[in-house]
Order: sequence, then C-alpha cells, then structure tokens
Amino acid sequence: MRKQIAAANWKMNLTYQKAEVLLKEFLSQPQNLSDNKLVVLAVPSPYLTMAVDKIAGEKHMYIAAQNVYSKKSGAYTGEVSVEMLQSIGVTYAIVGHSECREYFNEDNALLADKVKICLEHNIVPIFCCGEALPVREANGQNEYVTGQLQDSLFDLSEDQIKKVVIAYEPIWAIGTGKTASSLQAQEMHAHIRSQLTTKYGADVADSITILYGGSVKGANAKDIFGQPDVDGGLVGGASLNAEEFKQIVQGLK
Ligand code: PGA
Repeated sequence: MRKQIAAANWKMNLTYQKAEVLLKEFLSQPQNLSDNKLVVLAVPSPYLTMAVDKIAGEKHMYIAAQNVYSKKSGAYTGEVSVEMLQSIGVTYAIVGHSECREYFNEDNALLADKVKICLEHNIVPIFCCGEALPVREANGQNEYVTGQLQDSLFDLSEDQIKKVVIAYEPIWAIGTGKTASSLQAQEMHAHIRSQLTTKYGADVADSITILYGGSVKGANAKDIFGQPDVDGGLVGGASLNAEEFKQIVQGLK
C-alpha cells in the first residue's frame, strides 16, 4: 500500500516561541499514525533542530526542510545543504514549491539537481508541481505538469523515483481559499500516475505517493484524500492551527 502523508508547510510564519507552542499542541494527542500513515512537518530552517528534538520518540512523524540547495557545500551564502539537513536528523525536503519557482526563479533544471542531491543523501524530496490559473483556463494543465515531471524527475532511475514524493499544487488554489474540487485533484493525480506508468511501469507508478496541496482544510481533507490517486496533502495555512491540522491528519485514508 502507498504511504499516505499529511505534510504541514509552515512557510515563513511563526516565531520560535509560537512554533514551540504549536508543536506542543499538535503532539499533545496521539494521531493514529502507522507505517503507511505519516505526518511530515516542514518548518522554517532556524527551527529544524528544535522540531527534530521535539518529535524524537514519536513514531511515523518526520521533519522536513522547506527548501535545500543543489550543491553539496561551498560559497553559497544563505543556502542550506543536504549534508546539513542530514546531520541534524531532517529526513524530508520540499523541492520546487511554486513560491520558490516564482519569487526565486527556481527552474526545472535546478530542481532536477535538487531532487538528485536529496536522493544521494537519503533526504526524501517532496517535489512540487502545478499550473497557474491561465494555464488551467486554457485547459493546458496536463501538458504543463507533464513538462515539469519530464524536466525534473524523468532522468531518475526506477529505484530513485520510487523514493520521491510528488505534490500536485495548482497555483490558483494555494493560499487563496479556492480548493481544487476532489474531482479536479483526482483527474490530475491520475494523469501524473499515468505519466509515471508510461515512463517507469505500473508497479513503480502505483508505489509513488502523490499529495494534493492548495487550501486543504479540516473540512475538505477527507473528501480530497479519499480520491483513489490522492495520497494525502501538503498543507500551508491550515497547518498553523494544531486542531485543524489534527483534523486533516484524521482525513488520511
Ligand atoms: P495552502 O498552501 O494550504 O495555504 O493553500 C499549500 C502550500 O503552499 O503548500
């Protein structure tokens, strides 16, 4: 069975003190997790160590970086490397979030390098893809997302791609309160899986976790996650509220 994941993306929010409180609130109740039902928390870089410490001993819970650089080390002021993440016990990293693509000009070629260096250092990349509103309005979303997958992922070997988590995040649904309908999410997830099938075969495609992201809330999580090709979500705004995020975790199938 594919891993189902509720991933929180706190983005550039919260002070250290507020982040500690949020984690404490979230961890205060057991979450009914299992080998196939995981929680991943992508916290701001300065809080990674604190978050790793706080979840120590929690089963099926992992900490993610919100980004990582494509080089191993060197004169790249301000960047964070996979080795650094590995050395503090971080096991996941978001790669290619649409905000990083848009504001920091991250392109598909750079993201291919980021995915590769993550895999070389046992960091699971959560690779984000998704179209902007004009592309969706012109009904070009399938081709657009296919291009992102081809350019950033399809050089990977079968063994490598199996370790990647894909997050489909339509840009028009991020932080807008405008969620894709569960049908729209399912259609795109099925499309992504069909592209993976064509490239790597059905067994590999069936094993890959594909998350949906974009205005997921407690109230819609179960419906969206219940779709056959949706394996959980990458959650921004709603993950900043412990009760709401717990409800989202409960929506995993
Ligand atoms: P949102 O963000 O849940 O606030 O729409 C999702 C994301 O950007 O990962």
